[in-house]
Amino acid sequence: MKKKEQMAALVGEYAGMLRCPICGNGMHVEQLKSLVCENSHSFDFAKQGYVNMMTRAVKTQYDRNLFENRRDFILGSGFYKKMHEEVTGILSRLEGGPSVLDAGSGEGSHLDRILDGVDGSVGIGIDIAKEGIMMAAKHYPRSIWFVGDLAKLPLKDGSIGVILNILSPANYAEFNRVLSPDGLVVKVVPESGYLKELRAALYRNTDKETYDNTGTVSLFEENYDMVERVRVTDAVKLDRSALGNLIEMSPLAWNHTSGELDDFIAEEKTVTIDLEILVGRISATS
Ligand SMILES: C[S@@+](CC[C@H](N)C(=O)[O-])C[C@H]1O[C@@H](n2cnc3c(N)ncnc32)[C@H](O)[C@@H]1O
Ligand SMILES: [Zn+2]
Repeated sequence: MKKKEQMAALVGEYAGMLRCPICGNGMHVEQLKSLVCENSHSFDFAKQGYVNMMTRAVKTQYDRNLFENRRDFILGSGFYKKMHEEVTGILSRLEGGPSVLDAGSGEGSHLDRILDGVDGSVGIGIDIAKEGIMMAAKHYPRSIWFVGDLAKLPLKDGSIGVILNILSPANYAEFNRVLSPDGLVVKVVPESGYLKELRAALYRNTDKETYDNTGTVSLFEENYDMVERVRVTDAVKLDRSALGNLIEMSPLAWNHTSGELDDFIAEEKTVTIDLEILVGRISATS
């Protein structure tokens, strides 16, 4: 079977969870080629095996170069290893192998690393950036990949057991619609020291030099009962190649020319990872 057909067969097993992003009706896989709804809205499987479920064209700054650097960095530097282990631990303590949606999955390496230690869960990655999803489907065929908007998830109400949301925007109305009543949201947010060496190089003496996640955490707490908060802090030595990946993958460096960061990548250095993992359940009172 070709890659595209393999992925179509996998999606076919889980088609009962899907809904049409145009009309909201149920969907099925036709001839291992397309996802089609009861109203005949049709979305084709691309040759890499993902499906583009966008209903309008969008422009995004997240391009192929950024995702290639993200992939190399995530897989090669070990920078996010502790975060992956913590999230894997949280998921593997859950019973029944819940479905795991990575909302804003990018090129998919976080979801794939995390699922490595989790038995029986299917992964679904959704991102608005086609270049990221294309790479995810190419490298990680055990999961289902959709180009889609967090504001219009192609998923039925209550169909998802766990939503991962890693360094990405959230849409809590949609998250709460697709989450099962006892489901969990696992959101990874930067803490004050995250990439502080890069921030210092780019934004010394400005309000962007440190990161404040208070607003993000408050919004999360308005939507969920906090089950657990885990801080992941470490200082990781990065070689020049990893530092180069870091600059190319980071929206922090978008408005800077490469020359400005020559000093930053001139020799290996220690860079701080400082993240918080917020684990929430839909609040009984909301
Ligand atoms: C900083 S990146 C993080 C990607 C990935 N989670 C990671 O950590 O490598 C933020 C991601 O959110 C995605 N994103 C932003 N707005 C979105 C939306 N409305 N729907 C789906 N994805 C969105 C971007 O395309 C991008 O891939
Ligand atoms: Zn439809």
